[in-house]
Amino acid sequence: MKDSCMKRITIAIDGHSSCGKSTMAKDLAREIGYIYIDSGAMYRCCTLFCIEQGLVRADGSIDAEGLEARMGEIHVSFRLNAETGRPDAYLNGVNVEQRIRTMEVSSHVSPVAALPFVRAAMTAQQQAMGREGGIVMDGRDIGTAVFPDAELKIFVTASDEIRAQRRYDELIGKGEAADFDEVLANLRERDRIDSTRAVAPLRQAEDALVLDNSHLTIAEQKQWLLEQYHRLTDEYVH
Ligand code: DC
Repeated sequence: MKDSCMKRITIAIDGHSSCGKSTMAKDLAREIGYIYIDSGAMYRCCTLFCIEQGLVRADGSIDAEGLEARMGEIHVSFRLNAETGRPDAYLNGVNVEQRIRTMEVSSHVSPVAALPFVRAAMTAQQQAMGREGGIVMDGRDIGTAVFPDAELKIFVTASDEIRAQRRYDELIGKGEAADFDEVLANLRERDRIDSTRAVAPLRQAEDALVLDNSHLTIAEQKQWLLEQYHRLTDEYVH
């Protein structure tokens, strides 16, 4: 059967920080011709807005009231980067793909993402983006809160040290100064906040398939994910 005749499903990929979710989600989306949305980038854009607009106090806390009053000024979108073949995040029309990946943003993003009004706004945008199906979205609450009816749900994890090493290598590769222990501490702290917040905490959906990729190469996990996709979509065809 031709691809265009096949049902375009919704694929939700959730899991801990820096476990390679976005790499596998992007690769899968490109391979099967689906839209890829990095929901974490949307929370990172809200955090960058806070940093740039003076909504992060000297003690590191977020001026939640100030942010709530200005949520209407935050418009996040994605546009394909022809060079990388992947979507870049735009905040109010400006490409912020590099700026949202810094340690500064990483260290403030979990408290911002825990704010109920931030989650409500981002969740509504994410649901609008996925209304037609044919989407791969990665994050923390995609299979539980954003698309609880997604046909394919994956929960990815890997050991703390392996995740920190990957994140550290990524930062160094981009020429950023990085300290392994700081990266590990940031990752554990984000997991703690993400898993214990009141609204849409990080947790595995009951019907999610679990992938521990601690000892898998990128090619192996890509293969595994493609198999899950084909197994499911073949069921719809037959
Ligand atoms: O995937 P990431 O590291 O770029 O995500 C950044 C932060 O955003 C992460 O600490 C938790 C939060 N997040 C969330 O709360 N819900 C999502 N669906 C995606 C990310």
